[in-house]
Amino acid sequence: MNKKYKYRVISLFSGAGGMDIGFIRAGFDIVWANDFFKEAVESYKKNVDQNIVYGDITKIKSSDMPDNIDLVIGGFPCQGFSIANTKRSMKDERNFLYKEMLRVIQDKKPKFFVAENVKGILSMKKGKVIKMIKKDFESLGYKVDARLLNAAEYGVPQARERVLIIGNRIGVENPYPEITHWVDSKKYQTKQGLKKAVTVKETIDFLSNIKLSEDPITLDDGKIIYNHVASTNVYDKFWGRKYKVKQHEVCDYLKIWRDRAGYTTKKVDDHFGYKYTAGHWFRKDNNSGSIPKPSDWWELKKILGFDNKYDKKVTTMIEKEIKFEQSLRITNWERPSDTITATSPEIHINKERRLSARECALLQTFPLDYQFVGSLNVVYRQIGNAVPVKLAEQVANKIYEVLKNEESN
Ligand SMILES: C[S@@+](CC[C@H](N)C(=O)[O-])C[C@H]1O[C@@H](n2cnc3c(N)ncnc32)[C@H](O)[C@@H]1O
Repeated sequence: MNKKYKYRVISLFSGAGGMDIGFIRAGFDIVWANDFFKEAVESYKKNVDQNIVYGDITKIKSSDMPDNIDLVIGGFPCQGFSIANTKRSMKDERNFLYKEMLRVIQDKKPKFFVAENVKGILSMKKGKVIKMIKKDFESLGYKVDARLLNAAEYGVPQARERVLIIGNRIGVENPYPEITHWVDSKKYQTKQGLKKAVTVKETIDFLSNIKLSEDPITLDDGKIIYNHVASTNVYDKFWGRKYKVKQHEVCDYLKIWRDRAGYTTKKVDDHFGYKYTAGHWFRKDNNSGSIPKPSDWWELKKILGFDNKYDKKVTTMIEKEIKFEQSLRITNWERPSDTITATSPEIHINKERRLSARECALLQTFPLDYQFVGSLNVVYRQIGNAVPVKLAEQVANKIYEVLKNEESN
């Protein structure tokens, strides 16, 4: 990298480093990164940089991070913010992980920060959540903007919509990159100067006839690729309950028996060796409760001693056909893909398998030679979590320009 200035970056919630690679390409120096997802940290070390610290951010003091920071970046976790969870969302402690980012920004006072999140954050609690987040950052002296960007409009072969919150305390407009590509909709007044969005076919067709392999594969042109492995679970049948069961009735029922047996939720979790699961069995609201699977039901019965009221309804399973589910969709081919998610990617258009990890990584614009560490599902998760490298790079280029101009003035 022969750019003159090397701006110093702290990267939080770095994952496998999709966002970080984009910033490094634009000329930034990631001096400290962090995540508590073990395999993602290993992937990061192998492909991005050794400077990532493995650990829970809530347990790491700002004084243990370097000073003289120009930029803080991070995709703070979004599970707690998802629309499906609105009822408990303000209480969900994951929501407050963005406060960790806030804390680091307050302590390190970077000139800029960039935070990425899911689209749902804009509508959550009728817009109150994003307002709260913006206000919190503004109170630290930052000018803050939040915009929804579609990665496909920036040359990524994926119609992934994400919110980018950018803030600065140097008194400039927050720079967002201009779109470069048009997707197949009528929303553009003019397509002049724009290229057609990159398609899935253009991106991954060259792998269609390459046999899946756990081992590295050398292509005809000498390039080596890794992680061309895929889930072959493409069935349209699954095991489901034969009878309809009202989830909140069962949750209420289990709660009564849990109290009677003198158990706390934690004690139940400890018994099963679960971390959070049991909490969902005793929950009343429809959004977050769940009914135990048959094997858990019988084990629960042993410790709580409940009667037979729901036994048959909960535990009688039959093979059912899946009518429609996102996990069974077939990927787009002549246009950008739908969002690459962290679990069960879509089915390959002409193969009896899901997209391989490598194909997902390419649709996320990770470099061809990036080697992900971990089991297949863990690798899918690292990839689905990421900010597309190419999108991050364009955001980073814009910020780099502003910082450079500021420096030369
Ligand atoms: C959306 S992903 C970020 C992906 C990353 N920006 C990229 O482009 O590849 C969020 C990350 O936050 C991490 N995370 C969640 N809670 C954390 C915590 N308490 N401490 C450290 N990392 C955490 C997760 O392990 C996950 O990798």
